[in-house]
Amino acid sequence: MPSQKEHIAVLGAGNMGSGIAQAFASAGYPVVVRDLTEKELARGRETIERNLNRSVERGRLRPEKRDQVLSAIEFTTELKVAAKNARLVIEAVFEEEKVKKTLFAELAPLVGEKTLVVTNTSSLSVSHLFEGFPLPERCAGLHFFFPASVNRLVEIIPGPNTSKATMESLLSISYSIKKIPIRVRDSPGFCINRFFVPFLNEATRLLEDKVADIPTIEAAANELLGTKMGPFELMNVTGIPIAYHSNSTLGKALGKYYHPSALLKEQFEKGEKWKIEGEANPAQKEAAKGHLAGVLLGIASRLVEEGVATAEETDRGARIGLAWRVGPFSLLNEMGTISGYEQVDKIHRHWGGAFPVSSRLAEVAISNEPWPLTTVRLEKDGPIAWILLDRPDALNALNSKVLLDLERAVKEAASDAGVHVLLLSSTSNNFAAGADIAEMVTKTPAESLAYTTLGHRVLSLIDTLEKPVIAVVDGYALGGGLELSLSADFILASEEANLGLPEVSLGIIPGFGGTQRLARRIGDSRAKLMILTGTHVRAPEACAMGLVARTYPAEKLKDEARELALTIASRAPVAVRLAKDAVDFGIEAPLPSGLALEKQLATYTFTTEDLREGMKAYLEKRKPEFKGR
Ligand code: CAA
Repeated sequence: MPSQKEHIAVLGAGNMGSGIAQAFASAGYPVVVRDLTEKELARGRETIERNLNRSVERGRLRPEKRDQVLSAIEFTTELKVAAKNARLVIEAVFEEEKVKKTLFAELAPLVGEKTLVVTNTSSLSVSHLFEGFPLPERCAGLHFFFPASVNRLVEIIPGPNTSKATMESLLSISYSIKKIPIRVRDSPGFCINRFFVPFLNEATRLLEDKVADIPTIEAAANELLGTKMGPFELMNVTGIPIAYHSNSTLGKALGKYYHPSALLKEQFEKGEKWKIEGEANPAQKEAAKGHLAGVLLGIASRLVEEGVATAEETDRGARIGLAWRVGPFSLLNEMGTISGYEQVDKIHRHWGGAFPVSSRLAEVAISNEPWPLTTVRLEKDGPIAWILLDRPDALNALNSKVLLDLERAVKEAASDAGVHVLLLSSTSNNFAAGADIAEMVTKTPAESLAYTTLGHRVLSLIDTLEKPVIAVVDGYALGGGLELSLSADFILASEEANLGLPEVSLGIIPGFGGTQRLARRIGDSRAKLMILTGTHVRAPEACAMGLVARTYPAEKLKDEARELALTIASRAPVAVRLAKDAVDFGIEAPLPSGLALEKQLATYTFTTEDLREGMKAYLEKRKPEFKGR
């Protein structure tokens, strides 16, 4: 959390600006909102107050918290007051390039050297907006979704010069206000609007071409995506002009397929809402569903092929930002890749090159395999590999898919001769909040046994790897999450990390090895205290009891862990593995047996070339070059 001086500055007190300010203030950040006039500021403040009061009336917010949030927001017409000492400046003014660029020109001399500057544009090019802005490495797009106070999705869009550190800060700031960020390349419509805006347009084309009437298209979309509002109702609520203008903007950038339909244009010009009356026609519904699916799959697979976003983040964005049951790629896998491809191809045959088909989609369809979607990322970094849990919207809860993806990633890293050390961590600011309660709740005892067996299999795989494994824990490591970290050789944690085995509060006991590995790590007495109470401990306390090996400030955790892993990777590989074996097997044995084992393994190291190299290098005062033999 920043100090009082390091506030968040929000430029613009309109719908988006006020929502963004509320989101930051609700997470405990001091916020300064700036707009041109007192009238606009008063309107912004009223919007925030109204939202907060509604939450209080619904019992979702305590009145004291509302007052706290309101008092965290300062309002000003002075740009320099907002910009001075800000940690982050968020531009959220009118969506027009000239207006935004003029503001950036005024802002440029006022921002401090460490301030990050982002634009909340939804449709303009981030690189163009920041052209000429000083320190472009600290600028990016941060696109919030409406309503910004509650919608958890943000798109982070780097400009051509945005630094890695800026991207990491923006990811971490987003998580700290409970948003789910996805990383997106600077391109028309970014990721979500690229398929959502044409989806609305296509609904009007279906009506125009008399494929189906409005109630049928609404029902088709709702069934397909598990939504409560179809495209026409959504346009009525959010405004037909917005749908029209967004399609026009995309059309200008991406060509004729994206232009607004004649019917959408007509409705916009009439200034009337869509009339949604009558029952859905079952005879037309399947055709409408197939067509809408074709649009989503066709565009989403293209944007992934173009490198705009990953398939996983595209799906996540659709689920979180649009509240869809599934994203386009999970939908494709549900439909079957051949059926999905056929729907895309139908639209392609109508529009030709204006609606190109992704060659990756064609390949996946030919193989009739599902589009690969993973919840665990494997990133190799020289001699070390990061295995990153990537299900941030469920705090990396370990469902069967995550466990299987984890197993695959661990096996791949373990079998790569170039990888010497594995780091087990997460793409977000939480390690893992446990086994997946939503998946477990309906399990029969037999199904639960299969699930627990899977958990044991994966964690035992990690526990018994020859290569060292380090768990790098930020945020929550609860239940199965803590058990997973215990399967690593040791745990490095951020000072804010929260560790615990809360299973007894759910009516179960730790089932992924927690009763055994925790007791062995910290002793039965302390383990029982944690397990029987189900309470969490903070990382410093966990460190004092030997559960965590070392703690670091959150912002340094991954860098420190990397350095430590590189140090281990620089040591003689055979010696590292034998030392690990000596500890792991010795600790389970009586001391004389452990000592005998150590003697044997130590003697064995004298047969290795690495020993000769290590000692020779020492005597010659140079760095050893180990071969791992
Ligand atoms: N399973 C499934 N979903 C989970 C989850 C879990 N273990 N932990 C968090 N989530 C989901 C939440 O349901 C929520 O989803 P929605 O947005 O769709 O509602 C999302 O992650 C974010 O979580 P919260 O809104 O709850 O976040 P918070 O910051 O308010 O609270 C928390 C964080 C205290 C960790 C809270 O999420 C929590 O208590 N989670 C459950 C922790 C737990 O009991 N773990 C043990 C599981 S049992 C187990 O692990 C058995 C075993 O030994 C193998």
